[in-house]
Amino acid sequence: MSFNSTVFLNGDFLPLTEAKVSVLDRGFLFADGVYEVIPAYAGKLFRLQQHLDRLNSSLSAIRMPPVMSDQQWTDVLTELVEPHSQSDQSVYVQVTRGAGANRDHQLPSDYQATTFAMCQSIVTDSLSTIAKGISAITLDDIRWDWCHIKSVALLGNILLKQQASDQNCTEAILLRDGFATEGSASNLFIVKNKQLITPPKSHNLLPGITRDLVLELAIKEGIDCIEREISEQELFNADEIWLTSSTKEIMPVIELNRQAVGNGQPGSFWQRVSISYSQFKETLRAQ
Ligand code: PDD
Repeated sequence: MSFNSTVFLNGDFLPLTEAKVSVLDRGFLFADGVYEVIPAYAGKLFRLQQHLDRLNSSLSAIRMPPVMSDQQWTDVLTELVEPHSQSDQSVYVQVTRGAGANRDHQLPSDYQATTFAMCQSIVTDSLSTIAKGISAITLDDIRWDWCHIKSVALLGNILLKQQASDQNCTEAILLRDGFATEGSASNLFIVKNKQLITPPKSHNLLPGITRDLVLELAIKEGIDCIEREISEQELFNADEIWLTSSTKEIMPVIELNRQAVGNGQPGSFWQRVSISYSQFKETLRAQ
């Protein structure tokens, strides 16, 4: 997985090696910025409007106005992925509050945002590889209280993910006040008694674009879905656990804290919804 050589920075397309930002950029000094990760299948941007809406709500939450119109973003991102339409890409978008004259905690009244986008190829695992399932551990959520903002301040997330990795697990499922909220880089679903359950949107979790699509597809499949809190106990007693994200899609968790989830295999609900997710992608590709 390597970054493609042309990137977008502050209105220009330029080679990655020539893209430079100031060391006084508030993104660098304070993690004062937000981001998006948008898949593109055969050059078709996946759920672009939803990603742009979330970008603008993250910006609004950190007191920044939109930096470009949706049409401008569409043009920029389309141009970025266009040369790579033979492959699947993951587009990274980052907007920070730009560089001030010096390092100052106070928000500047006047500033020039730094607007950046790049893409890299994603090698999505085949359904048969994904169907092997992943292992996860539970950890206390050490992050801040505004997890609905897609902030570039990801130190909490990456340290939690590393703790999972240290224990040979792919993801950490996070617990807050006795409830499971999301993964360190993914949203959470469980299946119990033929019902698909996911925690409601709140400041405890990122409103995932994949999460919304999974719910839409599951409802179309006739699956009974509910958005409600999931207690730690319910998580351990789940028949199926899934973790979702734009780049990893729907990962079935087959082992939690070294205990088998359900019968230790990806479940039948996961199979149904992941097939319909793949079909959704294929339809987009063919457009
Ligand atoms: N992260 N929750 C967290 C904390 C995440 O970081 C992500 C995705 C998700 C899933 O959101 P979506 O379905 O919109 O990708 C949930 C991205 C992929 C990342 O940081 O690279």
